[in-house]
Amino acid sequence: MNETLPMDEKYKVTLSGYLKEYKESLESTEEFWNKKSRIIDWFEPFTKVLDDKNKPFYKWFVNGKTNMSYNCLDRYMNTERRNKVAYIWVPEHGEEKVITYFGLYRRVNSFARALLDLGVKKGDGVTIYLPMILEAPIAMLACARIGAVFNVVFSGFGEEALAQRINDSNSKTVITADGGYRKGNVIQLKKIVDAAIELSNGVDNVIVVKNVHNKINMVQDRDYYYDEILQDGYVKPAELDSNDPLFILYTSGTTGKPKGIVHGNGGYPVWVANTMKWAFNPGEEDRWWCAADIGWITGHSYIVFAPLLLGVTSVMYEGAIDFPKPDRMWDIVERYGVNILYTSPTAIRLLMKYGEKYPLMHDLSSLKVLGTVGEPINPAAWHWFYEEIGKSRCPIIDTYWQTETGGFTIAPSRELGMPDLKPGSATFPMPGIDPVILNESGKEVPPGEKGYIVLKKPWPGLMLTVNGDPKRYVDTYFSKFKNMYLMGDYAIKDKEGYYWLLGRSDEVLKVSGHRIGTIEIEDGLVSMKEVAEAAVFGKPDTIKGDTIIAFITLKDGYDKNVDTIVSIKKRMRSELGPIMVPEEIHIVNTLPKTRSGKIMRRVIKAVYLNQVTGDISTLENEASVEEIKKAMDLIRKEED
Ligand code: PRX
Repeated sequence: MNETLPMDEKYKVTLSGYLKEYKESLESTEEFWNKKSRIIDWFEPFTKVLDDKNKPFYKWFVNGKTNMSYNCLDRYMNTERRNKVAYIWVPEHGEEKVITYFGLYRRVNSFARALLDLGVKKGDGVTIYLPMILEAPIAMLACARIGAVFNVVFSGFGEEALAQRINDSNSKTVITADGGYRKGNVIQLKKIVDAAIELSNGVDNVIVVKNVHNKINMVQDRDYYYDEILQDGYVKPAELDSNDPLFILYTSGTTGKPKGIVHGNGGYPVWVANTMKWAFNPGEEDRWWCAADIGWITGHSYIVFAPLLLGVTSVMYEGAIDFPKPDRMWDIVERYGVNILYTSPTAIRLLMKYGEKYPLMHDLSSLKVLGTVGEPINPAAWHWFYEEIGKSRCPIIDTYWQTETGGFTIAPSRELGMPDLKPGSATFPMPGIDPVILNESGKEVPPGEKGYIVLKKPWPGLMLTVNGDPKRYVDTYFSKFKNMYLMGDYAIKDKEGYYWLLGRSDEVLKVSGHRIGTIEIEDGLVSMKEVAEAAVFGKPDTIKGDTIIAFITLKDGYDKNVDTIVSIKKRMRSELGPIMVPEEIHIVNTLPKTRSGKIMRRVIKAVYLNQVTGDISTLENEASVEEIKKAMDLIRKEED
């Protein structure tokens, strides 16, 4: 942890530039953001930078009027960027497609017109359930253009999860495709949409992109093919208020159903554009590849909005990074001359497992900068990425942030002043971010000690609220430490001020970088007819971060056998989606509980991992611990 890696001389500008901006951002907040807000165009200027009268519901750029689609597209139409490539889209198989800013502008206008013709209006909810195809950013921008509030649902979620999001976002329109490709297989997206609509409160329109050209069921007067409703023409971008919602994105928490995180039209674009520039500083000619999925915040902020707001050329890839062969990622870097590659520690660990042979097959000399996101990066993966991929030339921008923060909160700043890097540390906060590490009673811990990472000041990328549940916004993020934003992670600040992120402080898992609440999987399990109780936790995994483990008890009359487990897994896959299926499900007679009846996940996990220590006398049913121990002994014996 004390290793420091001095940056190559050419990157090693002094930190003074960064420190100056950082200081200004905290000391003269309004002036600072007034300047930085010019990164986008405003139809009407704001009357106040920050209104913090109703804490913690902060309002940025009060009364300002703007439009995301205008800022990503229209403002380039009389400049050289008009003919610049916006996306090089790389399919899982077949030829790439190249689309310029003008091409994207035309398509977004056509689709915005089609949405208006279907009756979609400002403020209406639209659910987008698409694979990684160009129609995904087109749909997001078309909604943004007319002020419809979109929510993108990752295509690895199943019908139940989709239905829940359609209902919560009050969507009467769903945009999907006939199917999507994943490692050579076709995912039947339209079928899942049909099943989800059955479970939902009902929708008026389903728009279907022909992508895999399979046979699908189309419902008359409800389902429309995308290419049949497009119309040429111009749609005037709606003049939206800074604090009007732009999108909702659902993410996992520790209690109840997923939270609909709401981002707005003013603060969010200012934040994502500035943070991308500070951290990565892409040049006009650079090719940027953010290898995430549009279904997650990384895709929203750094595949779609920030790159377009900065006029960057992006590579967008449809498929899996190791398909059809483990060199796919390196092949794309070489073939399309990627200069900045932004990916996840899970991806790095997976590709590292395949060995150096694969990157060595390709010329990676176009790379200038590397970035990571989603989980803490372990030093071994950091070094592999730095040395084998970046050839010790490319700084690694480890970006720490989350759905709720809109964009990076802690990351090295290539633009303002690149610090010497320490493998595994995200280094220093972005301007405007004022972190502190607190102990349980809210006192700041000394350097080197672990505590909760909390942000003391609001910043423009902070979500507006939790959709339909402002109380949950306050309770989840601003209650443990009053009026300070709780990130939900443990961290250490070392003596030199570097931040080290240590993982979640709550019961949220990171499975291959995807954020999954144990509670959602438990809810899914107990909704099965045979399951009485469930306890879910994460088992550390060297590639995926966590894998999902479940212990369940059955209702009377159901057999404790393998067939039950297989059948439960199958239904979990179709209802919640493949990413939510536990790797292992163990059936036991009872689960350890406290006297008040709370299932003790932590005890089960400790027994499972063979790490039981300490006193378990507060448990109501210690015998169940014995049962789990016995079950684990049996499993271990079988494994030997
Ligand atoms: O635990 C932190 C981890 O991912 C969580 C946020 O997940 P999500 O909202 O899905 O957003 C992921 C993409 C931004 C955080 O609370 N996390 C994210 N980036 C890092 C990280 N942990 C350590 N280092 C990171 N760079």
